[in-house]
Amino acid sequence: MRFLVTAGPTREHLDPVRFLTNRSTGKMGFAVAAAAVAAGHEVVLVSGPVSLPTPEGVERVDIVSARDLLAAVEERLPESDVLVMTAAVADWRPKATSATKLKKGTMNPVLELEPNPDILRTIAPLKGDRLFIGFAAETGDPVPEARRKLAAKGLDLVVANDVSLPDSGFAVDTNRVTFVTPRNLSFLPLLKKTEVAVRIVAWAEANARREGEGRIS
Ligand code: PMT
Repeated sequence: MRFLVTAGPTREHLDPVRFLTNRSTGKMGFAVAAAAVAAGHEVVLVSGPVSLPTPEGVERVDIVSARDLLAAVEERLPESDVLVMTAAVADWRPKATSATKLKKGTMNPVLELEPNPDILRTIAPLKGDRLFIGFAAETGDPVPEARRKLAAKGLDLVVANDVSLPDSGFAVDTNRVTFVTPRNLSFLPLLKKTEVAVRIVAWAEANARREGEGRIS
């Protein structure tokens, strides 16, 4: 199968040296890309700014902002069977971006923001028979929000993680996730992100639409 995986944060620049971002390191998304290629799949990895090496055999596309990410996903989606949206996308960007460094004395202390596109919602009409897998990063019980996102974003699977736990979510090597599908809930134990990634790839392999067959879960 052909996997399109997104990873890392986006950066929304205010000027050349300042930006809005989040704590994503890319570990989870890079692990998905590595697991997919290790299982014999073709992988394109669209990554925000992170300091991780590209897994061998993976084609990497670097992006900066949410709008870059949307453009890259739109370009590579037609040649993909499975989309895994692990990237932590900034929902907002500064309304104005300065090409030169803003001076402290002349900066407006109130930052005006405008919404970024929701990538999954924007590409939903292009889904066809592809599997769309999203994540849900929540503080507290992630399941209710994961269920809402599953329906609202038209996903086949949401991998929900509680990002308030010290051993899960952003910037650690482990994750405690729940697989949420339209029909099932599956609570996984605390695992290395590399193992969570193997489970995601296995789920995609088991649920890819084969000629004349329905989906398993
Ligand atoms: O990179 P690490 O340090 O390893 O951390 C991993 C992680 C915590 C970033 C990862 O496990 C994770 O939870 N990624 C999703 C982060 C996120 O943006 O979650 P969300 O609940 O805000 O978004 C839900 C889904 O919609 C996600 O699949 C997201 O990629 C997507 N989205 C979000 C915003 C947006 N504008 N467009 C989107 O498509």
